[in-house]
Amino acid sequence: MSQRRTVREPRRRRRWSAWTVGTALAAVVAALPGCGSGTQSTLNPAGTGARQVEGLWWLLFGIAVAVCLVVTGLLLWALARRRGDRVQPRAGGRRLVVVAGVALPAAVLTAVYGVGLAQMKALQQPAGPAAITVDVIGHTWWWEVRYPDSGVVTANEIHVPAGQVVHVRLQTADVLHSFWVPQLMPKTDLIAGRINETWLRAERPGSYRGQCAEYCGLQHGHMAFWVVAQSESDFRRWLAEQAEPAPGVAASISDPVVARGQAVLENGSCASCHSVRGTSANGVAGPDLTHLADRSTLAAGSLPNTAGHLSGWIADSQTTKPGNLMPPQPLSPADLAAVVAFLEEENRR
Ligand code: CUA
Repeated sequence: MSQRRTVREPRRRRRWSAWTVGTALAAVVAALPGCGSGTQSTLNPAGTGARQVEGLWWLLFGIAVAVCLVVTGLLLWALARRRGDRVQPRAGGRRLVVVAGVALPAAVLTAVYGVGLAQMKALQQPAGPAAITVDVIGHTWWWEVRYPDSGVVTANEIHVPAGQVVHVRLQTADVLHSFWVPQLMPKTDLIAGRINETWLRAERPGSYRGQCAEYCGLQHGHMAFWVVAQSESDFRRWLAEQAEPAPGVAASISDPVVARGQAVLENGSCASCHSVRGTSANGVAGPDLTHLADRSTLAAGSLPNTAGHLSGWIADSQTTKPGNLMPPQPLSPADLAAVVAFLEEENRR
């Protein structure tokens, strides 16, 4: 009885391992198409730093594939030459283990480590003199963006001139965050009490999604942003427009709804957390709303920037992004519509 069981056991194990290998391969093949979908992919670089990271990625991938093929080949060779279930130690086996199992991996890993260190050093050097400086301040869970040379303040969207080096200074207002635009540059952490400096250079105009890459609490996953790379002239025009007062301020002279919106914003609770240039609202806890309508998303990449989403967000942002600092705003329907009209004036012209 016990004799028959020992004969059957290995066959069942072999079947299981074939099933496991097959499933793992199928999973890898099924996951591969996800690697190629351009947005937010390190393998679809559009920036100088990201291109260096991509080179390192392919090198490591190539080495991993080569090691995998060699080990699989040795395994298959050993299986093919197997005689029965008994293992016979052979002369020279120990040397093979020391060379192929210890010395060779140590040499490969040391070489890879050396390449990685050299790459890290190269990435610290900007690809040229910086055209502009941008201050990025991480908040739970959004990004404050400041252009110190022009005084422009915005949020969750960083406009830059394409083809030029942008000097980025990173700070946090609260906890640890990490600034990452996979298509443009590697990650840099935002650490309390210090300013971390990095750089990026978009090779061509386009919108590149960034994401906080350090777990920072409940809405870490909803802490995204966009880097919008523009031609030099488009960027300068954008910067000049952003320096202007909110367009609703001028519109409020002739449009009573927009005027009502500005009054609600200035006299209600909005002003205690938000700033709007040209009005008396000068709060600093939340994003600057001066040219809100110009941004493509709301709530750090969580929602498309439409009047409907903005209304819902103001009325009760906690349903979309639980835990964020803004409490529900019990405005009357008319007041809510007026505030949205004021903030969306840029899109109504
Ligand atoms: Cu900020 Cu994760």
